[in-house]
Amino acid sequence: NNPPWPAYRGYHEYSFAYATMGVRLPTILGKAIEDTIRTLNEQSVEDKIVDLVQCIERMDNLMTDLSGNAKLRPIIDDGEGDVALWNKEIAKYFQGKDFMNAPWLFAEAYKYRRLHEAFSISKYWKDYDVFYRQKCDTFSRSSDAVFELSMRFVEPFTHLPNLTDAEMLEAERLMFLELTQVCLWGNSTDLSLLINMTEEQIKSLQSTGGDHLAATEKNILGNHLPQLWETVKELRDKTGGRIDFVLDNAGFELTFLADFLIQTGLAKQIYFHGKRYPWFVSDVTKNDWEWLLNMMVHGHLFPKATEQERESLRRLGERWKQYERDGKWVYEQHAFWCTGYTFWDLHSEAPDLFLHLSRSDLVYFKGDLNHRKLTYDCAAPASTPFEVAIGPMASASGAPKICSLRTIKSDVVVGLESDEIAERLDKEEPGWKISGKYAIVLLSEGRPG
Ligand code: F6P
Ligand code: MG
Repeated sequence: NNPPWPAYRGYHEYSFAYATMGVRLPTILGKAIEDTIRTLNEQSVEDKIVDLVQCIERMDNLMTDLSGNAKLRPIIDDGEGDVALWNKEIAKYFQGKDFMNAPWLFAEAYKYRRLHEAFSISKYWKDYDVFYRQKCDTFSRSSDAVFELSMRFVEPFTHLPNLTDAEMLEAERLMFLELTQVCLWGNSTDLSLLINMTEEQIKSLQSTGGDHLAATEKNILGNHLPQLWETVKELRDKTGGRIDFVLDNAGFELTFLADFLIQTGLAKQIYFHGKRYPWFVSDVTKNDWEWLLNMMVHGHLFPKATEQERESLRRLGERWKQYERDGKWVYEQHAFWCTGYTFWDLHSEAPDLFLHLSRSDLVYFKGDLNHRKLTYDCAAPASTPFEVAIGPMASASGAPKICSLRTIKSDVVVGLESDEIAERLDKEEPGWKISGKYAIVLLSEGRPG
């Protein structure tokens, strides 16, 4: 049940795997250690201090394993719902493999699992999030993008008076396409890549606005936006009208699309799928989600904001919390999302989750990591149709409609009209696969069970 193409591995020097395993991951881990030391220095209770020192020692061991390219050992049973899945996969496929010769996707996920283990087996620090400061900080420093969106969308979506049905539908189509792009490009600012970026560079990546969006649509290399709208516009009349978002980062741009889908009645219910613990630096946990909504309503993150700007955030936050109370927005965190399995194995390794997703009318997978997992992170030709590249997630009985919304930040690229597009970019713009400048919006029609 595997694709015919080889998966990327750390020792593939031509791939982003090499720089990630050799440089990026140790840098990220080093920063995590610094963060924990900062927390350690703020403690006063001896038991907690001693306990946290042990967490730091375990992170140091991980650093030694990672930089010395040690073999992957099983995960210690810390009571997490994913331990059995991790150890089964290691025993079955990766016995004797090390960080560099195991598939990149697996080895990278394994590193985050080991990082979690450094804390999960402690007494007082099980839920400590080494990336929390960074996630909160980035949001607080993104005030331009935050208020640009909040001021514009604080008033619920309404139609101009006296429009025909066709005109109303057209207005919704345009808004849907814009919000989809907001959602798409917001993701180029993934924290795991921002290690060396200046604030100016972050701002330019985050800038929204109509002109910018029109210009960026040409950078969507595999573009199923028209088909996506055809799918979404049919949902309103369905009794279910359920849309799922498999989340990646703790950005808040995606919630505007989710808000619009509820306001217009295009969807009646939206499920958000987050991570159970800190993952790939900026991925959303339950804690991040609650932090965001509560900061919007009660926080003081933006001292320079005007009263009107603050009010816009407050009102949006209240509206979104109300969706949660009404069961229109539901936040979930299945254990499978924090494993090393690709989604080619989702139906067999997490059948309950597959069944749950198969009841959705449309499942969005946001971001680069989810795209790598959908496509097995392997060297498929760029012209491989999306439905072929995602294997069982398109062909298994009960496979839902799937949309991958992804800015391209790693090697795997599929769903393009021809291989030549990728070949030309390889020549003309080396680095195009990791810059986040290009994207894909691909749809798979699924297979009703
Ligand atoms: O490929 C670069 C990378 O940082 C990977 O390490 C990771 O898979 C991914 O991008 C994270 O991006 P996203 O948050 O969009 O899933
Ligand atoms: Mg991420």
